[in-house]
Amino acid sequence: MKHSVKTIYQLKQDGKKISMLTSYDYTIAKIVDEVGIEMVLVGDSLSNVFQGNNTTVPVTLNEMIYHGKAVVKGVKNALVVIDMPFGTYQINEDSAVENAIKIIKETNAQAVKLEGGIEIEHCIKRITNAGIPVMGHLGLTPQSIHQIGSFELQATTKEAQDKILQDAVALEKAGCFAMVLEKIPSFIAKEITSLLNIPVIGIGAGNHCDGQVLVINDLIGLDPSFKPKFVRQYLNAHSLISAAVKQYHEDVKNGGFPNAAESY
Ligand code: KIV
Repeated sequence: MKHSVKTIYQLKQDGKKISMLTSYDYTIAKIVDEVGIEMVLVGDSLSNVFQGNNTTVPVTLNEMIYHGKAVVKGVKNALVVIDMPFGTYQINEDSAVENAIKIIKETNAQAVKLEGGIEIEHCIKRITNAGIPVMGHLGLTPQSIHQIGSFELQATTKEAQDKILQDAVALEKAGCFAMVLEKIPSFIAKEITSLLNIPVIGIGAGNHCDGQVLVINDLIGLDPSFKPKFVRQYLNAHSLISAAVKQYHEDVKNGGFPNAAESY
């Protein structure tokens, strides 16, 4: 079944958990989709894990579109959401709508994701009025890293907790079909999840959210040096790949590859 914002909304109404995972290329997206993950996110985290930057700030609109196109080709059933990168919705509402339309038109994805609260509700309204579903993103919003100062746990003070609750309500009212809550205390995520009608997807936000999202590279353990508390590493892909590459290297060096069966 091809997922839409309606089927995703229904999962929450039926009390069913929603799973979401990032993908940045065709082959991985195909695996993720075949497993039955309901939403695939072409996250701007590709700036970190694919491009090697230390923040998500540098990735461009055309780069997001490039990866989005590849992911969409690998996905049959999941709803594909593409991050609007930093600088593509902060300037004004007109350019935000124009950029959201460009993403959807060129990639054939179903939705976009924007970071921020009340300050971007006008953009969200305009984009949803243009017929494009928007996913919100609150808590740790990495595009604002230079303002936040660190990737630490967010919403730790009463003031920040009141603000995130207000932001969440504002995003739902503005028309978001779902939202991500990143790196906030579980009890606040729980409160937001029960307050909102739309699905709330957590990352580092505890187990009370309607669903969870992780960066695929973290889940499969591609970079052993990155292991925040909220990541569960299901595979040590780094050591598996490393062992395979080492074996190949040795086989080439000692003349063992290719053998007769691998030759024409
Ligand atoms: O860019 C990304 O991968 C994200 C997730 C961490 C939610 O926004």
